[in-house]
Amino acid sequence: MNLRLFLDKARQAGLLQTNSEELDPHLEMARVIDRLEGKPLLFERVAGYDSRVVASICGARENLALDLGVEVGQLLFLLADAFARASPPPIIRTGPCQEVTEGQVDLRRLPILTHLPQDGGPYITAGLTVVKDPEHGRNVAFHRLLLLDARHLVARLVEGRGTDTLLRKSPGDVEVAICIGNSVPVLLAAATSLGPEVDEFSIAHALRPTPLVKCLTVDLEVPAECEFVLEGRITQTTAPEGPFLDLTGTMDIVRDGPIVEISCLTHRHDPIYQALLPGGQEHRLLMGLPREPAIYSEVSKVCRCQNVLLTPAAGTWLHAVVQIEKSHPDDGRRALRAAFDGHPSLKHVVVVDGDIDIYDPGEVEWAIATRFQADRDLVVLEHEPGSSLDPSSRHTPGQKTRTSKMGLDATIPWRTPLGRLRSPEERLAFKRIRYTDQAGDQ
Ligand SMILES: Cc1cc2nc3c(=O)[nH]c(=O)nc-3n(C[C@H](O)[C@H](O)[C@H](O)COP(=O)(O)O)c2cc1C
Repeated sequence: MNLRLFLDKARQAGLLQTNSEELDPHLEMARVIDRLEGKPLLFERVAGYDSRVVASICGARENLALDLGVEVGQLLFLLADAFARASPPPIIRTGPCQEVTEGQVDLRRLPILTHLPQDGGPYITAGLTVVKDPEHGRNVAFHRLLLLDARHLVARLVEGRGTDTLLRKSPGDVEVAICIGNSVPVLLAAATSLGPEVDEFSIAHALRPTPLVKCLTVDLEVPAECEFVLEGRITQTTAPEGPFLDLTGTMDIVRDGPIVEISCLTHRHDPIYQALLPGGQEHRLLMGLPREPAIYSEVSKVCRCQNVLLTPAAGTWLHAVVQIEKSHPDDGRRALRAAFDGHPSLKHVVVVDGDIDIYDPGEVEWAIATRFQADRDLVVLEHEPGSSLDPSSRHTPGQKTRTSKMGLDATIPWRTPLGRLRSPEERLAFKRIRYTDQAGDQ
């Protein structure tokens, strides 16, 4: 399903918010997206620009579930399945993304949002960067892009990631295509980080058929049905990039980033520009969701894992709840350590039993309150590699961020405080009694 079909489906489901006020991409639109957090949003009129703008396409798990045709709790399994079934998409001869080729490139004609007064400038935030590594093949990733002038942008390439690695080992410029206005499967796939040999478009194609077209001026392919394609080169020349609001809700600093030069711009007739609110729910969800299958897979190596949630309040990045079915007294502790292996940026994790609704923070807190003892069930790890996005960690320039980590085993304790194993009947005393579960309930 391409972006437009998703908008139709969201409209039918009553999820789509449309805004027909004439709004300015400079500061005004970001405030509206923020106010309607999570709901897919279509701006029908943009002051000074021809294109319409969409935002918050992946702003809530419900939007993703609607697009992919599954229940929210099944998203993790659908993604894990797509990782396993990734297959290269076909390349077709023509696609809607090349309906119009602009005679002269002028990026200032795109309604690129400036989100906050303290931002470095207008930023493309939902642009997917496609490059080809001679060793590993295609790489697709989100890279925020600061608008410099009619043909130039500055990219934020996190050190050690695919695009950065390619640029560092290349003697000169690197060909690039930036696609904007993408389907949910393409957005989700681009947010994954499974290793240099994994082609993100193959993951998208496993979720939904995603045919590609060849670019006009560079040796790259892009989804045929996206809205805009910017073709050009990532250069070895740098310029300051930032400040920019990151997913922890704090301002990221100014660094030097490579300048991207755009030489060809194609788009659909009546193209829709896609925006993504920095630090917003969509940013957090896209970052975190692809990490849940990775945690699930590691925890499944040590016990029976039922589900995983990276919680929204901690940026869908730093905190997880892991649900397991215990078959051994130590399964909770084993799951804690495995969860940290599955997502190295994870800082705090709570492990719960299958009777706890992991989507309800109140239930998770109840499990901690009634099943957890700090002297027995707490694991603290010091001086661990951590997330560069956590301002409370130890950051030393040129070195991996260091942090402390904490795991809480909030599963039903199978041992008494004196170490005796509780019988299954004794463990039932930890179950929550609910009026709605009683026989004869109307
Ligand atoms: C909404 C969003 C914004 C992101 N912005 C950036 C960014 O500006 N720079 C960056 O290097 N990675 C960014 N990422 C992470 C990359 O998309 C991707 O996960 C990572 O680069 C994958 O690593 P790889 O290129 O090694 O496969 C962002 C991810 C999401 C979901």
